[in-house]
Amino acid sequence: MKEWTRDERYRVLQSPEEIRELYDRVRTSVYRQTYHVQPITGLSSDPNGFALHKGIWHLCYQWCPWGAVHGLKYWYHATSPDLIHWKNEGIGLAPDRDYDNKGTHSGSAISLGDELIFFYTGNHRDENWVRTPWTCAAFLNAEGKLEKLPEPLFGPRPDYAEHQRDPKVIYNPAKGRYYIFLGAMSADQRGCVLVYSSEKPLEGWRFDGELKVPGFERFGGMWECPYVVNLSGTDVLIFSPQYTTLPGRGNSTNHNVYLLGRMDFDSLTFTPEGGYHFLDFGFDFYAAQGAANVNDPDKAILVGWIGLPDNHYPTEEEDWEGSMSLPRELRVRDGKLLQTPVAGVEALRGEALPDEGRLPDACELQLEIPEGPFYLALFTKPDGSGGMSLHWDPAKKLCTVDRRGMNKRFNQNVFEVLEVPLEQPLRELRIFIDRSSAELFFNRGEATFTTHVYPEENEHGFTHSPADVKLWPLTASVTDEFVV
Ligand code: FRU
Repeated sequence: MKEWTRDERYRVLQSPEEIRELYDRVRTSVYRQTYHVQPITGLSSDPNGFALHKGIWHLCYQWCPWGAVHGLKYWYHATSPDLIHWKNEGIGLAPDRDYDNKGTHSGSAISLGDELIFFYTGNHRDENWVRTPWTCAAFLNAEGKLEKLPEPLFGPRPDYAEHQRDPKVIYNPAKGRYYIFLGAMSADQRGCVLVYSSEKPLEGWRFDGELKVPGFERFGGMWECPYVVNLSGTDVLIFSPQYTTLPGRGNSTNHNVYLLGRMDFDSLTFTPEGGYHFLDFGFDFYAAQGAANVNDPDKAILVGWIGLPDNHYPTEEEDWEGSMSLPRELRVRDGKLLQTPVAGVEALRGEALPDEGRLPDACELQLEIPEGPFYLALFTKPDGSGGMSLHWDPAKKLCTVDRRGMNKRFNQNVFEVLEVPLEQPLRELRIFIDRSSAELFFNRGEATFTTHVYPEENEHGFTHSPADVKLWPLTASVTDEFVV
């Protein structure tokens, strides 16, 4: 693995020509995604500024141009008419101000009539590398570019740790106020959310207090990327707690979880009903961001980063890594969060293929599963051995996913085998495979499992116990053009 010096990681991009050669090299990788948003070069991590505005979806991602390393972060901007076909728009935000000199870190967007406003964290560091996180704003200008406000909206709270970032903005019509939920770490290293509010989106912000979450006063050391949304009368709080291991998640110390409950803006309390849930049970899913209640108050759209902060991936050797997940629809039904693939993704299907045990590079598998135990292996060798396997044990109500059979193994010290508990018997699976990822949706949204996977030339088979299988190749839908 390449060792990066700080200067290399934090180098400022002066001209697109500096990364053209890297781009030309990266795009020849056999692991380039075909229908997922991915970094043009280097590393992509969190989804940012995700919103529908005047009929166009905007999705940015945290981007480090130079390689597969968490260095100087830009926002890279992509747009879509339908959440399925995406176009590269170039740099959204660059770390070109003093207050964001060491990175334009994560944030969100809100569409307000004619205006699309972005909120992000300006990651300032001084010459002693002491960090000051600023909450900053930008807007979409007439040229369709993100334009920063001259000054940040507000600075950090001195009574909390330096970890205060990832503003997620929402409007509360009952209160007539805008709210920012900021991920934070307290001075005594508890993960928490800081709440700010204002009557106007670009001025007048005040600190309202720390969000109280009874039962979660000590749950991880930093809550990244918080997001609250009301779906069919239930409030959902999504966040990414760090610096803790959680049962069932191997040695990982980064997680993406959600709570269902009730958000009270008067007392600034989110009262959970029950415990936390994993947003996704897979190896690689983090920092998910939602775009709320678009056209349908009972639904939100969510995109996650296929990757985890401290993990490493085989394409690092090729100087790139990361991908956005397929957008998914969130709903609450019978007190449960359901996650289904974005509506209309069927448009990517080519002609259905017979089940001959071979997976195209990009495809969708749909399985109707009979009652009883079930076994599936993806990316097997021609003789049916190896691959990533899934076992359903109806007695234990557990699916076990094991990727130890793949040629390319990675993050072995974190986890290679994970379990997905299901309440309902496993009867339906929808699987989206791209060249370096697989996303599994169980029982029409009961649970999801997202993972990177890097099959080699001889790993394109699949085998399974009896089931009704449909298989479609999927066509490319994301431009991979050199727009910087
Ligand atoms: C989450 C995160 C955010 C931060 C960003 C920096 O992965 O650590 O908290 O804003 O990444 O890239």
